[in-house]
Amino acid sequence: LIVRRQDYRPPDWLVPEITLDFSLDPVCTQVRSILTVRRNGEHDRPLKLDGDDLTPLEVKVDGQALTADQWSMEGGALIVPLSGAAHQVETLVELAPENNSKLMGLYASGGLLCTQCEAEGFRRITFFPDRPDVLSRYSVRLEADRARYPILLANGDPIEQGSLPEGRHWALWTDPFPKPCYLFALVAGDLACNADSFVTMSGRTVKLGIWVKEADLPKTAHAMQALKNSMAWDERVYGREYDLDVFNIVAVADFNFGAMENKGLNIFNSRYILADPDTATDIDYDGVEGVVAHEYFHNWSGNRVTCRDWFQLSLKEGFTVFRDQDFSADMGSAAVKRIEDVRVLRAAQFQEDSGPLAHPVRPESYMEISNFYTATIYNKGAELIRMMALMLGRDRFRAGADLYFERHDGQAATCEDFVRAMEEGGGIELAQFRRWYEQAGTPRVRALLTHDAASQTAELVLEQTVPPTPGQPDKQPMAIPLRISLFDRESGTSRGDELLMLTEARQSFLFSKFAAPPLLSINRGFSAPVVIETDRTQADLAFLSAHDDDPFARYEAMQQLMVNVLVGRVGGQAVDDAAVVAAIRNTATDPSLDDAFIAEAIRLPSEAYIGDQLTEVDPDAIHAARESLQHRIGAELEPLWRDIHARTQANSFSLSAAAKGARKLRNTALLYLCASGIEEGAIVAFSQFSAADNMTERQAALAILANGSSAEREAALDIFYNRYRDDALTLDKWFQTQAFAFHPDTVDLVEELGRHPDFTLSNPNRIRSLYGAFAGNQWAFHHRSGKGYRLVADCIIALDKINPQTAARLVPPLGRWRRFGEARAGLMRAELQRILAQPGLSRDVTEQASKSLD
Ligand code: ARG
Ligand code: ZN
Repeated sequence: LIVRRQDYRPPDWLVPEITLDFSLDPVCTQVRSILTVRRNGEHDRPLKLDGDDLTPLEVKVDGQALTADQWSMEGGALIVPLSGAAHQVETLVELAPENNSKLMGLYASGGLLCTQCEAEGFRRITFFPDRPDVLSRYSVRLEADRARYPILLANGDPIEQGSLPEGRHWALWTDPFPKPCYLFALVAGDLACNADSFVTMSGRTVKLGIWVKEADLPKTAHAMQALKNSMAWDERVYGREYDLDVFNIVAVADFNFGAMENKGLNIFNSRYILADPDTATDIDYDGVEGVVAHEYFHNWSGNRVTCRDWFQLSLKEGFTVFRDQDFSADMGSAAVKRIEDVRVLRAAQFQEDSGPLAHPVRPESYMEISNFYTATIYNKGAELIRMMALMLGRDRFRAGADLYFERHDGQAATCEDFVRAMEEGGGIELAQFRRWYEQAGTPRVRALLTHDAASQTAELVLEQTVPPTPGQPDKQPMAIPLRISLFDRESGTSRGDELLMLTEARQSFLFSKFAAPPLLSINRGFSAPVVIETDRTQADLAFLSAHDDDPFARYEAMQQLMVNVLVGRVGGQAVDDAAVVAAIRNTATDPSLDDAFIAEAIRLPSEAYIGDQLTEVDPDAIHAARESLQHRIGAELEPLWRDIHARTQANSFSLSAAAKGARKLRNTALLYLCASGIEEGAIVAFSQFSAADNMTERQAALAILANGSSAEREAALDIFYNRYRDDALTLDKWFQTQAFAFHPDTVDLVEELGRHPDFTLSNPNRIRSLYGAFAGNQWAFHHRSGKGYRLVADCIIALDKINPQTAARLVPPLGRWRRFGEARAGLMRAELQRILAQPGLSRDVTEQASKSLD
């Protein structure tokens, strides 16, 4: 039941070629497959072909039908004893895509037929060694009713198509690049195409297609531009060129994740393709750009070089997230992108790393691999690559990447292969650095700066600890690259950036020629994914928030300033907030700063982030403290918020960085203005809601209204609903905004919304927008009655029967019980136990719930 990394063995049989023939139909699809198999090494083990929910209707070896005693079934897999070293093995199975509610394998979505195979969905389509180190050349023939499925797409290049009797037609696709079966894809349906082209650096013309429902075509321009920018960027920054004649993307409405990098045929959750100003926020636009880039970049980091086994998942995901983050930083503001990425890392990965589901970037074992598509594998994995890039510098990192791609092209590689390529190609030694792949838990670094006036020396003492995590009680010191700078308090300047390598548990660094005690700026740019503890005072932080020349460090100083006040107040201390108000005023009026950065810097840390700083989380106290500080900032600076809100009003819509920044700041100003308690707050918000020509301002105003109890709240929610009720992606925002609201009745509202006629368990986006958002609303989810826990558990139990993968994603919020005090912990544990007591519970939910209870 448990798969272990150390048990890896090369495959017994290889499959250099596969021919697939699909006769497509929503209730009865026939799949005929012919595998060319070759024995791998000397052994007498039978051929084992994975299967999930498949019944073999025919089994043939070298063209001869086998009788029922010549093969057997073993837990879903087909076992065929073979006599020689090379054979052709043919099977026939039937599928009912319309009944496939797990959305893994071949399924139906909004009249389309489509596939999702990563990680182990291909075994739900045909019998095959479903593991990423078996690479095959695919030839795929699709046949379907022409009226219902006029477009037939698969991986690789289109070869031929034709008509058949009875209104059916066919198409043949072949993919010249050997690939693991998790990269297989097909799509059939009535789709329209945004067609374009890209000329590669060697002068080849690639046909690009983004396929959507006809009515959605006008919403595909941003995704197409992002694709072309990604292709050019990968050539310029990594020297990587696209390798097929066509590149297709299809958007589907029902999808378990963000998107999938299938070779030459990416399949996307439509929320990461479709965007127009009326329905998409600036965050949505950035999401489209980032995910299009991510999937495109996988063509090299994932497809040309794939993973040997699923323990190596971060090899492709961490690297590819790093690449898409770097790309987005290049397309817009690098400083703001870094701040956003760190906020996501802290919200998702730091929480994961400090709870019962903590695991290393390269895990040692799993029950269900789908549960390991985590923030640790993706986002912490990306931070590991970023640290290597920082230590090596741009050119040597590129040399390491070049060696990696050259050496492993066409192979299934490991994280170790990547690190070795960096060592050899980049010229660096990474022995201790490898612990980042092995040890879970977020390192804590304590930094103490002292000064000796006599010798004019400053001493920085750094101490690191890595907390125990499940299965890893004792930790070794990590190699932590820390960018620091020391500021002169008089002039507000520094001597510049330095990179310190912290490799011991305790280490001291000396800095000479400091007549006066300098001020420490540390982990600049968030150079390492660690928690920093310092003894800097509020005055020190206020100084850095005004003078630090590293934008991330400046942002961080502001955040820490606010956290100190909030944490103090939650602990019952009367902490003075004057420094916070003053720092916000300074930042918001600093002419050298752009609007987007100001908006990031002046926003309060989330309730969850405040909770993460405390040993025991009291959601009500945190909520009260944060609301009261927000009110103070609003009231003290009310004229400023009015000014900013007026100044940032645009005459016409634009997606320029400046216009996006202005909207971000405008929404922040509106938030503070309404928090100030002015009487006309709801009216101002409602008028922004009504007048907005874009979703960024409309949804922000709606969210502010949703926090309160006003007639405007109800009116805005009604207007929004009636305007977008037929647009699923936008209606998701209606659910999400209410589930995320700081309203005393949110928990009851969510219960009601779960019974709303537009709510459905069959669409993952809808589930996430209601229950996913709610579970991320700390104050509402942790309602002292325990009702929030019950609602989420009820959803998990019902959803598990339909779509276990998506159900399992809702479990981790319940697993954080240790941090919420005895009463809440008891209620949360009881829900986990109730989930585990369900008969027929999936492996996905079983793993998450049982690990959460331990
Ligand atoms: N490889 C895809 C991506 O990151 C995600 C696939 C998710 N699959 C899963 N079973 N969770 O782009
Ligand atoms: Zn990915």
